[in-house]
Amino acid sequence: MELLKLTVKPWSSCLLLGLFVIFAFLASLSVAEIHYHEFVVQAKPVKRLCRTHNSITVNGQFPGPTLQVRDGDTLVIKAINNAQYNVTLHWHGIRQLRNPWADGPEYVTQCPIRPGQSYTYRFTIKNQEGTLWWHAHSRWLRATVYGALIIYPRLGVPYPFPMPKKEIPILLGEWWDRNPMDVLKLATFTGAAPNVSDAYTINGQPGDLYRCSSKETVRFPVVSGETILLRIINSALNQELFFGVANHKLTVVGVDSSYTKPFTTSVIMLGPGQTTNVLLTADQAPARYYMAAHAYNSANAPFDNTTTTAILEYKSVPCNAKKGKSSTPIFPQLPGFNDTATATAFTAQVKSLSQVKVPTVIDHNLFFTVGLGLINCTNPNSPRCQGPNGTRFAASINNVSFVFPRINSLMQAYYQGQPGVFTTNFPPVPPVQFDYTGNVSRGLWQPVKRTKLYKLKYGSTVQIVLQDTSIVTIENHPMHLHGYEFYVVGMGFGNFNPSRDTAKFNLINPPRRNTIGTPPGGWVAIQFVANNPGIWLMHCHIDSHLNWGLAMAFLVENGVGKLQTVQPPPLDLPRC
Ligand code: C2O
Repeated sequence: MELLKLTVKPWSSCLLLGLFVIFAFLASLSVAEIHYHEFVVQAKPVKRLCRTHNSITVNGQFPGPTLQVRDGDTLVIKAINNAQYNVTLHWHGIRQLRNPWADGPEYVTQCPIRPGQSYTYRFTIKNQEGTLWWHAHSRWLRATVYGALIIYPRLGVPYPFPMPKKEIPILLGEWWDRNPMDVLKLATFTGAAPNVSDAYTINGQPGDLYRCSSKETVRFPVVSGETILLRIINSALNQELFFGVANHKLTVVGVDSSYTKPFTTSVIMLGPGQTTNVLLTADQAPARYYMAAHAYNSANAPFDNTTTTAILEYKSVPCNAKKGKSSTPIFPQLPGFNDTATATAFTAQVKSLSQVKVPTVIDHNLFFTVGLGLINCTNPNSPRCQGPNGTRFAASINNVSFVFPRINSLMQAYYQGQPGVFTTNFPPVPPVQFDYTGNVSRGLWQPVKRTKLYKLKYGSTVQIVLQDTSIVTIENHPMHLHGYEFYVVGMGFGNFNPSRDTAKFNLINPPRRNTIGTPPGGWVAIQFVANNPGIWLMHCHIDSHLNWGLAMAFLVENGVGKLQTVQPPPLDLPRC
């Protein structure tokens, strides 16, 4: 903060002192903190569903540690890999301006941290507030390697809603009663779909409805009359989830790292990667109430149909109610597994808190088909072709199934000018036009495997219509863009029709997010300004789809001058 030049006059010394106090106070407001952490990635015995697994964790914690920072703060996290697997960490939703080196996706912005090695992630949070999270970005390690990343407003800046009495992070997870890395390995070998999970979890615990679990069911005490903020994160690997609390209304006040126009609902839906902040007032009879989550399954595919629970427990609950028969908590009504109407209506209700500035002219009008596919095998009886009718599952955007390079990360290859690692000819529209959500001819089911990037000039404006296809199955694909937040300006069912649908876009108060699902058999339109140079992955946050290639990446070129140019890489950046 700049010093003020004041002429000192005897009569004004009191005023001067007062001014000094005020400026000292203001100066303290602008002080950003630097938070240092050590994240040791290590195996740790974790017992769930009657069995103990040697799970990969951070610092032996499951879920991992919660990071709490303010807007403007810097995080310095030394990741030490003491596990037997390669690992990287990703700070989901953090913009990482000019700093792709701290983003984390394996083989995109960095090479993996090998067992025994370490890498320090260093980044500053700029103009973001809300609930984000961090997770491993290396194969399926994020099944157990994840935690909350909470960004409070700058010191002295209030929330745009009444201050809650307390805040509770709620991490929804997914648990396999075996090593998730082996589940992935098997699926990668056979080409079939990976086994579905055995449980969902709330803050790492499956809850009362699972075997050997009720003793550890998570309980949240509340006092009658108080309002609490739930920071709900879908950190499940492969499943969209409905979430509700018995007899209690939820007031949505934020999604991802943005505030939203408040609205009240009894159930919310989150795709993997998404977060939702809700206010809950303890205005019901003092008792015990379940909060619960189960699948929203939009695809024609097997899924884990179990339900995870935790308990909202009023502190004034009568003693006799704690024991005895009457102690069974009240259960919330969750929508049916395939209730697309409820899921879509909820997502469509989310709006920005106030009017926003969307780009007025679009430089890149992109149309991306997203969906599954099948790779034909020369020998359909091969053990490696156990997908439908002797094929292997694949997934693609505009018929390109993304292949992660192995010889170097994309960002390192780009920065070093190493040729042959990727091309920049990712198609802006699908190679063939067809009835995307109709009966698609088999000839269009097989994508090509490539490492293609789409190049953007610094500062250019981008619109992407993400069009789900009915190839193999229609499905809600939670699409996540690294390094950016985008405005969700429209969504609908069926094929996108530019002349009809563009006119209906919400350009006034569209929500700002980092992850948005395609309605199953429908489309969603997003807009952003390419003002963050680097290589940024966009992918489906259903990890099984990511492994099948449902990804692409943007190469955003440097602009003019230092402030529009990617920072030099840290010296300890791992090499491939
Ligand atoms: Cu939450 Cu690419 O990830």
